[in-house]
Amino acid sequence: MAEMIGAESHLAAHAPLRDLARGRNKLIGAAVAVSPLADEERYREILAREFNLVTPENAMKFGPIHPGPEEYDFSGADAIVSFAKTHGMMVRGHTLVWHNQLPDWITNGTYSRDQLAAILREHIHTVVGRYRGNVRFWDVVNEGLTDDGRLRETVWSRVIGPEYLALAFQWAHEADPSALLFYNDYNGEGLNVKSDGIYQMVRSLRDDGVPIHGVGLQMHVGLRNHPRPCDVLANQERLTALGLETQITEMDVQIQKAPGSIAERLKEQARIYHDTLALCLAAPRCTAFVTWGFTDRHSWIPHFTHHRDQPLLFDDAYQPKPAYEALRAAFLEE
Ligand code: G3I
Repeated sequence: MAEMIGAESHLAAHAPLRDLARGRNKLIGAAVAVSPLADEERYREILAREFNLVTPENAMKFGPIHPGPEEYDFSGADAIVSFAKTHGMMVRGHTLVWHNQLPDWITNGTYSRDQLAAILREHIHTVVGRYRGNVRFWDVVNEGLTDDGRLRETVWSRVIGPEYLALAFQWAHEADPSALLFYNDYNGEGLNVKSDGIYQMVRSLRDDGVPIHGVGLQMHVGLRNHPRPCDVLANQERLTALGLETQITEMDVQIQKAPGSIAERLKEQARIYHDTLALCLAAPRCTAFVTWGFTDRHSWIPHFTHHRDQPLLFDDAYQPKPAYEALRAAFLEE
């Protein structure tokens, strides 16, 4: 008997994240970039070994996938969906309606309400329909509110009106009734005016019978800027009381411009990753924990902040960091 326990603990001690996640009935995912997926064997090897969920970092956004009025480019998205199928992974589609990375023919167009609504409906039906049955979750609307909890003024809200939110979910549901449809946002993970705005918006959509199934909490945080776990848990619980799933959808933890040695900062980073996964494990309907990339070698943050950083689970030589070990520890805790 003792050797059995020893074997099990040995297995757990070396099991990849996806095996530990399966044991806790959770999905563990990462955002995937098309180029390293195509070019780097180590990238593919670790992605397939450690994760059971992937989300395209950019390939399914409006601009990359629908660059011209009559032109779609599914090559990047197809490569990621194909990789996921080969390796028994689920897919989170990201994202159907956003105000960023739109093609010029949308941002510079002069469309009537009905014309733009028809364009968006055709986009959603074409993209969701192509991956019907192969994309389990969709970020239907991304970042539709501002930090004060009000509707963000975008080409969609300006030309179609606030009803673009409900229409987008309706069209996505028509295109794939089996997909679970999410609203996804940042800075609204804990309890604040933004998460209150998200809560009221999704409650209103649910009350109107709109097919929305979950809320994505992005969790782009830093050592000196992260919500209290108890607040994130309370926010998840009130969303779940509406009948919604929640997911941590884009986590990374910036360590730049924070005090302490690199080792001290990586240890604090690990604690933040640990505590966030632990609250997702504790929240009954937190169904997935996704990091925005998985190696410091490929993170959006240095391009955005123009400053080196080490925000993810593996370093830029693909070696596991304290943050990776912290997620393992969280999965292994009862
Ligand atoms: O692909 C083009 C390339 O052809 C061109 O040469 C190059 C230089 O202009 O740009 C490349 O596109 C860039 C793209 O990333 C792919 O690398 C875009 O300029 C750049 O804006 C884009 O940044 C992405 C950003 O969203 C905006 O879409 C980041 O990689 C991506 O990590 C980031 O992800 C977002 C989530 O979608 C939503 N939540 C916030 C998160 C971080 O901003």
